[in-house]
Amino acid sequence: MGNVTAAIAVANIVKSSLGPVGLDKMLVDEIGDVIITNDGATILAQLEVEHPAARLLVDLAQVQDKEVGDGTTSVVLIAAELLKKGQDLISKQGLHPTTVLAGYRLAVKAAVSYIKKTLLVPVHSLTDDHLLNAARTSMSSKIIGKEGDFFAKLAVEATQSVAMASMQQEGKTIYPLSAIHILKAHGKSSVESYLMKGGFCLNAQRASQGMPTLVGLPDDESASTETVKIAMLDMNLQKHRMAMGINIQVKDAQEIENIKQREMDITKEKIQKIISAGANVVLTTKGMDDTCMKYFVEAGILCARRVPKEDLRRLAKATGGQLVITMADMEGEESFDPECLGKCRGVKEVAVGDGEMLHVYGCHGKGASTIVLRGANDYMLDEMDRALHDSLCVVKRMLESNTLVPGGGAVEVALSVYLQDYATTFDTREQLAIEAFAEALLVIPKTLAVNAAKDSADLLARLRSLHAKSQTKKSTADEDGEEEDMTVYKTYGLDLVNGTIRDNLAAGVVEPAMSKIKSLRFATEAAITILRIDDRIQTNPGGTNPLAAGGGPR
Ligand SMILES: Nc1ncnc2c1ncn2[C@@H]1O[C@H](COP(=O)(O)OP(=O)(O)OP(=O)(O)O)[C@@H](O)[C@H]1O
Ligand SMILES: [Mg+2]
Repeated sequence: MGNVTAAIAVANIVKSSLGPVGLDKMLVDEIGDVIITNDGATILAQLEVEHPAARLLVDLAQVQDKEVGDGTTSVVLIAAELLKKGQDLISKQGLHPTTVLAGYRLAVKAAVSYIKKTLLVPVHSLTDDHLLNAARTSMSSKIIGKEGDFFAKLAVEATQSVAMASMQQEGKTIYPLSAIHILKAHGKSSVESYLMKGGFCLNAQRASQGMPTLVGLPDDESASTETVKIAMLDMNLQKHRMAMGINIQVKDAQEIENIKQREMDITKEKIQKIISAGANVVLTTKGMDDTCMKYFVEAGILCARRVPKEDLRRLAKATGGQLVITMADMEGEESFDPECLGKCRGVKEVAVGDGEMLHVYGCHGKGASTIVLRGANDYMLDEMDRALHDSLCVVKRMLESNTLVPGGGAVEVALSVYLQDYATTFDTREQLAIEAFAEALLVIPKTLAVNAAKDSADLLARLRSLHAKSQTKKSTADEDGEEEDMTVYKTYGLDLVNGTIRDNLAAGVVEPAMSKIKSLRFATEAAITILRIDDRIQTNPGGTNPLAAGGGPR
């Protein structure tokens, strides 16, 4: 199969999932595991793609997902369309691939500078409304789109709650999304999801019934965040055992008793050290046996075992503590450094869904928040998690860059109209490639309209005409002789519900400018990489390659 055909086949898979009325895919693997999703990157990641060129598109979606978070479907569609148009120019019009590539490069450069110069809306003091709109736009196509208002608020609050000053740039605030912990719990409806600001939730429960369910002052907001001290361990808390292969010969039966006793004491001393360091809560990623539990119960300490390591790492960051791997110190002694203890206001065991969770309130360390998602089943919860991730990324991008662009195809149509015009300033063959680029961008509004079962040809014609007017004429006089400012039309895009066009900026369909710019760049790069290939050669893995066999250049 040709490179371009393979890439288009991949794009066709995700095509129907674009936009607020796009559909979801159900992916079933060989053992019957099901994923239901609308996220382009997730769909593509699950596919078993063998064709190398098609793999490039799959990787493209992953890059977009990592760098931007949202817009993974769009980027793949644009790249595939660029490929299709490029291939046509090469095979039907006889253009040399280099010319096409040069044209594409010119086009993307012009497009990006046009976005920056004209289309981008700077929001000097970003209000919550802008953020909410952007979050809502990004989740409009997802499972949580119906409760867009609720989840947009959740995403915005969560992102804002982890704000911290950047180390690299003076005076800049960054929003590390890794500080937001997303926990999924079965049961209840999705709108009963909640955000714990400055808190952390762990999917763990008390190790023993004898332990307290509550430590510190979780409900008292004014309490010090150093009330409770948490020890986070990555080791087994159980009776000490000799290492494998150690052979002890004992002549006296009493000696055996002594060894047993000593084994018990070693553990007891270890636990005593943790307790005397001041810990009120002990969490471990590994196991804990009954003997150890007994000591903790006696000391009134809340413990949990088999806590996921990743969660403990995050908790350590959130509470300003450290995950302790071993208690051995440089001198070969065992000790527990109180510096490693995380601090917080309170810890409480809460019944959520079918099980229990530990809620850690008022963390002492750097910003941390937890979103607890509720939903009917695993598929829903996973998809909600992915959708929320997209929105969190969008809010983060907006907060960090303070700029936005109208969505719903507005940017793509504006760029397309602009590039058509820009193409005519070239009297060389590149003109054709730039025109092809301009046309390729229209795949986004076209697909959006088609997916919403609207007349794409009609809508697109109206949109293009408006954008052309806004770019050429500053103002026109209407019948009554009143001047009408035409530049307002530059924010017009599709209204997919009513099948008409509207000012998407005013309607609150907005996206971070940076995500549009990045996806244009990524898509072009991917298309160029594939178009540069003129031949695919299957190398022989058997080593019969004469060059390789003869020790020639490799
Ligand atoms: N209410 C709306 N009206 C019109 N267009 C919308 C609306 N909401 C979103 N869009 C448009 O839908 C497109 C985004 O669709 P979608 O979220 O399905 O795909 P994506 O962001 O490219 O990929 P993914 O979210 O899967 O990573 C954007 O072009 C956006 O402008
Ligand atoms: Mg999206």
